[in-house]
Amino acid sequence: MSLRPYIVGNWKMHGTRTMLSEARSIDRAAQRLMKVEVAIAPPYTLIHPIHREAEQIAVGAQDCHEMEGGAHTGDISAAMISDAGAKFVILGHSERRQSHGESNALVKAKGESALAGGLRVIMCCGETEETRDKGDAVSFVTKQLKASLPVEIDNPMESLTVAYEPVWAIGTGKVAQPSDIEEMHGEIRKLLVNLYGEEHGGEVRILYGGSVKPENAGEIFAIPNVGGALVGGASLTADSFMGIALAAAETDEG
Ligand code: PGA
Repeated sequence: MSLRPYIVGNWKMHGTRTMLSEARSIDRAAQRLMKVEVAIAPPYTLIHPIHREAEQIAVGAQDCHEMEGGAHTGDISAAMISDAGAKFVILGHSERRQSHGESNALVKAKGESALAGGLRVIMCCGETEETRDKGDAVSFVTKQLKASLPVEIDNPMESLTVAYEPVWAIGTGKVAQPSDIEEMHGEIRKLLVNLYGEEHGGEVRILYGGSVKPENAGEIFAIPNVGGALVGGASLTADSFMGIALAAAETDEG
């Protein structure tokens, strides 16, 4: 891995201001683990308070609207989350694709808007259990990702991260087989090289996500083309989240 391992916490719809103490603990621990890039995506309401206090970790959002502004009740733009202190945004998470019907085209438009607004993008992809059982996981995920990724990106190595998260592994305690992760990340790497060239596409970090915990993280990070993790449940406490970050630091040292 040339860029530092990237460990991103996706707090989903969890967290009120009482969680700020957890964010502080994460930030403090991250200061002692500079070999790893640690970030959290809390609910919108916590972006600014965490950003104000954090010395080491970056704060991001879990979604944004594709338009810059306008009559979109309840939505939030890239410029707004950036103004609150967000440095990145997670897009195309399967929970948004499923429960908000987000299409690849919409996710791509959001990505273009976020990049234009100066945010880094973590683009998610992943297959359902049914698709994997049919043997179609690789073709599904590569097609989904290709249709979701913005084409024109300045400095993709820095501004883009991909997160492969099998839908059936999210929040279930099930983790994909190392050989399946290796195959999928290898195919994603090929696609990224194809889209953005060897220099950048070869370096964009590909995170694995879905039930990553301190206990399984080391094995996952040892897989080729795994550049970190997108972590849901286990990112809600500093202990378990930073246990994962520590595993990334140790694996990176070889
Ligand atoms: P999980 O969620 O770690 O709780 O499985 C991962 C995610 O949805 O990003």
